[in-house]
Amino acid sequence: MSEWLEGRVIENRHWTPALFSLRLAGPPLAFEAGQFVKIALDIGGERVARAFSIVSPPGELPLEFYGIVVPDGLLSPRLACLQPGDSLYLNAKATGFLVLSEVPPAEELWMLATGTGIAPFLSILRTPTPWERYAGVVLVHGVRRHEELVYRGLLDELEQRHAGRFRTVSFLSRDTAPGTLAGRIPAAIADGRLAAAAGFPIAAERSQFMLCGNPDMVKDATEALVAQGLRKHRRRAPGQITAERFW
Ligand SMILES: Cc1cc2nc3c(=O)[nH]c(=O)nc-3n(C[C@H](O)[C@H](O)[C@H](O)COP(=O)(O)OP(=O)(O)OC[C@H]3O[C@@H](n4cnc5c(N)ncnc54)[C@H](O)[C@@H]3O)c2cc1C
Ligand SMILES: NC(=O)c1ccc[n+]([C@@H]2O[C@H](COP(=O)([O-])OP(=O)(O)OC[C@H]3O[C@@H](n4cnc5c(N)ncnc54)[C@H](OP(=O)(O)O)[C@@H]3O)[C@@H](O)[C@H]2O)c1
Repeated sequence: MSEWLEGRVIENRHWTPALFSLRLAGPPLAFEAGQFVKIALDIGGERVARAFSIVSPPGELPLEFYGIVVPDGLLSPRLACLQPGDSLYLNAKATGFLVLSEVPPAEELWMLATGTGIAPFLSILRTPTPWERYAGVVLVHGVRRHEELVYRGLLDELEQRHAGRFRTVSFLSRDTAPGTLAGRIPAAIADGRLAAAAGFPIAAERSQFMLCGNPDMVKDATEALVAQGLRKHRRRAPGQITAERFW
């Protein structure tokens, strides 16, 4: 039986009509940066639960989550409407393998995300581990439109704090804006635009990749990396690609 804990909303920030960040006063949860937890509401007499990656770093309150309203979704539209003072349930046990304890050392760590898939990386980037283990860290975020490039303030701060070691690369697939690349991440791996924009080469001997978000991106980006000599990481057969699909 899962144990449910109650969390209380202290803020629900809306970045766009569809994108929101929920901050909760508690409960305190034990987790490794990059993990997810099930969030639930009681809807029509049933507890409806969905996985959400934790955005805040371990040991910090408020707990933070980043979500999108999935049209006709059962839970996400209701989460988006929560107000300060409302409560929701969280499963007591966080889980997931998109964590640095599963990723081998390398020269550079690459984090590739689409949409809300940036969430686990925002937690990992605020822990000491990536900066202790990798000489360079690259965060790549692919979204449809410019206004979906969220958490820019936090990322700018990290770029300043880790100057020369941390790069962010943004992709817009249905919009254009200065300082962003056009299209999708996998094509830019294949044609060399991603490595050029990040300023680091992509190679099995020096790169580790973490992928998160849209399952088609995970599949296509994995194929593009495999074509460059990288392979999926398994505990018994170490490689360079560790991934989590959001659906
Ligand atoms: C390990 C894991 C971690 C996750 N972390 C997050 C997170 O941090 N933030 C978040 O918003 N969602 C996250 N999700 C997705 C989340 O669990 C729900 O699927 C999502 O909120 C939709 O729930 P729903 O009840 O509204 O829609 P449902 O009625 O369950 O509809 C599900 C459908 O919505 C689409 N969909 C689901 N999630 C997304 C998404 N994030 N972006 C785009 N389309 C989506 C897919 O087509 C999927 O088949 C995660 C999923 C997994 C498996
Ligand atoms: N984004 C919004 O403003 C918005 C608003 C309201 C509702 N929604 C709904 O919310 C859900 C999620 O939308 P989302 O935009 O967050 O997530 P998404 O559909 O996963 O798109 C996020 C990014 O991933 C890209 N992508 C898709 N397939 C890819 C692949 N195979 N390889 C690489 N990149 C790929 C998309 O490019 P493409 O653009 O080329 O597909 C887009 O840039 C959808 O159901 C959507 O209808 C979205």
